[in-house]
Amino acid sequence: MSPTSRQTDLREPAPGEVEQEDTPAVPPRSMGLLRERHDRLRGRITEGSRPAVERQRALGKRTARERLDLLLDEDSFTEIDMYRRHQAADLGMGERRPHTDGVVAGSGTIDGRRVFVYAQDFTIFGGSLGHAHAAKIHKVMDLAIATGAPLIGLNDSGGARIQEGVMSLDGYGGIFRRNVQASGVIPQISVILGPCAGGAAYSPALADFTFMVRDTARMYLTGPDVVEAVSGRRVTHDELGGAEVHGGRSGVATFVHDDEESALEDVRYLLSLLPSNNLEPPPALPPCQATTDHRPAFAEIVPVEPNRPYDIRSVVAELVDDGEFLELQENWAQNVVCALARVDGEVVGLVGNQPMVLAGVLDVAASQKAARFVRFCDAFGIPLVTLVDVPGFLPGPDQEHAGIIRHGAKLLYAYCEASVPRVQVILRKAYGGAYIVMDSRSIGCDLSLAWPTNEIAVMGAQGAVNVIFRKELAAATDPAELAAELVTEYSERLMHPHYAAERGLVDDVIDPAETRAVVARGLAMLRNKRQTPPQRKHGNIPL
Ligand code: HXC
Repeated sequence: MSPTSRQTDLREPAPGEVEQEDTPAVPPRSMGLLRERHDRLRGRITEGSRPAVERQRALGKRTARERLDLLLDEDSFTEIDMYRRHQAADLGMGERRPHTDGVVAGSGTIDGRRVFVYAQDFTIFGGSLGHAHAAKIHKVMDLAIATGAPLIGLNDSGGARIQEGVMSLDGYGGIFRRNVQASGVIPQISVILGPCAGGAAYSPALADFTFMVRDTARMYLTGPDVVEAVSGRRVTHDELGGAEVHGGRSGVATFVHDDEESALEDVRYLLSLLPSNNLEPPPALPPCQATTDHRPAFAEIVPVEPNRPYDIRSVVAELVDDGEFLELQENWAQNVVCALARVDGEVVGLVGNQPMVLAGVLDVAASQKAARFVRFCDAFGIPLVTLVDVPGFLPGPDQEHAGIIRHGAKLLYAYCEASVPRVQVILRKAYGGAYIVMDSRSIGCDLSLAWPTNEIAVMGAQGAVNVIFRKELAAATDPAELAAELVTEYSERLMHPHYAAERGLVDDVIDPAETRAVVARGLAMLRNKRQTPPQRKHGNIPL
């Protein structure tokens, strides 16, 4: 160590040179001295550089360690690679080799269950990802996969560490490869608590769930400066990739929060609903007599008139234990609702058409949203309950040109492939292709339930009559009267749920008040379902 660097002891270390001067130059002569030096070094590493920490706070952000304290059970964190430093020498890097290399990595517990975590530390090189930083993340990812424990990444980073050139990119590639290896094996959660720019955004994109915090989190492939240089258009960081944008328009964020505390609290809640890996069952609570529950409210929530809107989330709340559920992507593709909850203590994934938004039609975004959710649930053994009230796919050139055929096929594919227990509840109407896609018997649901007031058909009665009896209606002296007669006849003959039930497409026509009880009994009946898929490398989902 040079005399110059030794002098840095006398001043506040600058960001990125936190404890370099503490590396022992002379072997310690006693255990006491060794321990003292070691404690001092650890203290400096964990405290970090005061000005950089103050700047982090001024930005409205917590430090990496404070975030881990909030996320994990008290005193449960075991850190690994605290002393790791980069080996780069170019562009002055040889003079700045802070321990941790800008990421705090290790393992802890949440509600007593093991998780692996890394938290990028913006106070060191802006949390940028160099080779050592990446290697630490690789290590926790490998351990998470090997031990079958969820992985949580807290992201706050300027992206690839520019001074380390292609080695940073190599580090990212290693993360992405592991994200994919872990996919469907362990739950992967990304929490964005600062910048997440460039290729860095692809790790959250490959994860199962992405949390973002308003005002501080931002994700984009190219920042505002590049956008302006290329297109001449000026945009703010938030307009380009803030939490609202990704929660409401792109669908990149699964959850959006006002602050770091509530985001990290919800990570804990989310994990309480997930198994630790694909070989474990989801964490169940004791049953709560759902199988005998009588809920008259169902019939009050869902109007009989097929076109009257209502909030499907009220049905979900009535169906699940304690009315409690965790909705995913609540501000994106709101015409379909995806949620995790419990029924009689068992975790389920709920997919429901939302008649309050676009009358609950399926469109490009809704198909993508529901498809990804169905695949997640299937990968992690979470039974599916599908609440159907769907008038069809959204018609029109916009949707056709945006590829509704391709995107609708994703949802179809996801359901057809799902081997978890699958219960379909038709609440009011189920028309055409959308009926098939919403987990109909024909694509493999295990238990299909319908309310007596249901309309299940190729299309609504009025539309059907207009097509089939066009000539007769044109020739009629009173077309309106004839149409009304034909609509009644069509409805009574073809749309009644007993028409489907007589043909085995609906297993039971139930009193709405018994919905929770029958669903709970159905899930219990299906609990040990085992279905082995045919041998193949993998299918070719229409991505
Ligand atoms: C090295 C970086 C860095 C980076 C920030 N820092 N980003 N160091 N590599 N990528 C350093 C800064 O030099 C500074 O160091 C400290 O972190 C804090 O940064 P500030 O700029 O002072 O902070 P702030 O004003 O809050 O701005 C944050 C920021 C900005 C918006 C993230 O730093 C920024 O635009 N950084 C560059 C982002 C970027 O272009 N990254 C590469 C993306 S491409 P000092 O020493 O002054 O404290 C990419 C490709 C990956 O990631 C591809 C993977 C497939």
